[in-house]
Amino acid sequence: MWEIKTALEKDIQAIARDLGGRMAPERRPLFEDKAARYIRKPGRSLFIALDDSRVIGFSTVIENPKIKGNLSRKTVDALQGLAMITGLLVEGDCRRQGIGQALVRAMEDWAFSRGRKGIWLVTRQQAAWYRRHFGYEAMEAIISEGIQKTIMVKMEPRES
Ligand SMILES: CC(C)(COP(=O)(O)OP(=O)(O)OC[C@H]1O[C@@H](n2cnc3c(N)ncnc32)[C@H](O)[C@@H]1OP(=O)(O)O)[C@@H](O)C(=O)NCCC(=O)NCCS
Repeated sequence: MWEIKTALEKDIQAIARDLGGRMAPERRPLFEDKAARYIRKPGRSLFIALDDSRVIGFSTVIENPKIKGNLSRKTVDALQGLAMITGLLVEGDCRRQGIGQALVRAMEDWAFSRGRKGIWLVTRQQAAWYRRHFGYEAMEAIISEGIQKTIMVKMEPRES
């Protein structure tokens, strides 16, 4: 059975071995740097999914991201002060068990517990998945590096 946990310094080797090991060699150093940055820098978090101590997925989130890119004024204003999901991956042979959803929930809990009023991300193919399972809404379609992507946003659900 798998579990989700916040990655710590001591997990870097396993992350590099298990996730980095499956990547193209030229992508590995960048991925390892990213993992270390998310573990060490305040205002960021890296969550990992573990199965028998093997790392089978990860997600990354930033509490107060810089909003970059050619976005409309309305979108830039709406995203102010919201956390951002910057990465999410579950190994191909481990999908469709709810691990992706658990990683997203971990990031949402992290962001909302830090007082963020909402959370957003940019996705190429998973807009419908984010809407269906978590209630994210499309805010703006963008072209990034020649590829159409969608900005998805979810505001913190308020207790009535
Ligand atoms: C998107 C991604 C993270 C989802 O990971 P996952 O672990 O498969 O996610 P889940 O298992 O929570 O949900 C996937 C599907 O499995 C279903 N599912 C969840 N638990 C299940 C279970 N126990 N049995 C059967 N199906 C299940 C979900 O309902 C969902 O169905 P849907 O796609 O029809 O809505 C994964 O596909 C991935 O890494 N893709 C490549 C990278 C990527 O696109 N990242 C997102 C960038 S924004």
